[in-house]
Amino acid sequence: MPVAITRQVSPAIGDCELTHLERTPIDVDVARAQHAAYEAALAALGCRVERLPAEPDLPDSVFVEDAAVVLDDVAILTRPGAESRRDERPTIERALAPYRDVVAIEAPGIVDGGDVLVSGSDVWIGLSSRSNRTAIDQFRGVLIGHGYRVHTATVNGCLHLKSAVTAASDDLLIVNPDWVDVTQFVDHRCIAVDPSEPGAANVVRVGDTVLAASAFPRTAERLTHSGLDVHLVDASELAKAEGALTCCSLIFEELTR
Ligand code: GLY
Repeated sequence: MPVAITRQVSPAIGDCELTHLERTPIDVDVARAQHAAYEAALAALGCRVERLPAEPDLPDSVFVEDAAVVLDDVAILTRPGAESRRDERPTIERALAPYRDVVAIEAPGIVDGGDVLVSGSDVWIGLSSRSNRTAIDQFRGVLIGHGYRVHTATVNGCLHLKSAVTAASDDLLIVNPDWVDVTQFVDHRCIAVDPSEPGAANVVRVGDTVLAASAFPRTAERLTHSGLDVHLVDASELAKAEGALTCCSLIFEELTR
């Protein structure tokens, strides 16, 4: 059974980091209700949801994906690019300790989990305002011994690599070609988002199913037409904090040590 680590929305989410969005008021109760529905969708797809308590002093802490990358044989604790997010790590490290050996990215490396795309034994890491080459080299040093190929990906116009591309199945990526060069992803089929839905490339894969944001129905239709089982969730209030669906969970197989 997959485990999905999540964290309750912080009451301070309105003070979140923003890079490409204007600040607009966030209704914490609505964000919490959407987050609970997201967790329920993960549970309905077979995940065991482990929800961490809210962190009142860490506005972005609901976006647990950015603090770690969990692979089958190791977890890597990131060093988030935004200084305000670095204190999110200790609780994530403790949550992962029962499941994986945890290796930490060290300064001056910076990397957000949102910049790390894993598909099979390929790992692409986006060079963004949140992630640098030092961290990519550290990732490569850890993962090479576990049989992974680590690639540096270029990304433009969005916060994270996974704003621009995520894996919808073993060999299928959903991409926004305006934000990422699709020729980087050899050996994968790519479906483009509907041009009117630039933020639609971020989907959560659970087994043979994908969770997609209900704000992007045209792209969801494209995914359905390609044979995927697509479930829609409303994450519009969380999106005001520049967080997408993958940001809200760390999903991995439960392999106890
Ligand atoms: N608000 C999400 C982030 O900037 O990290």
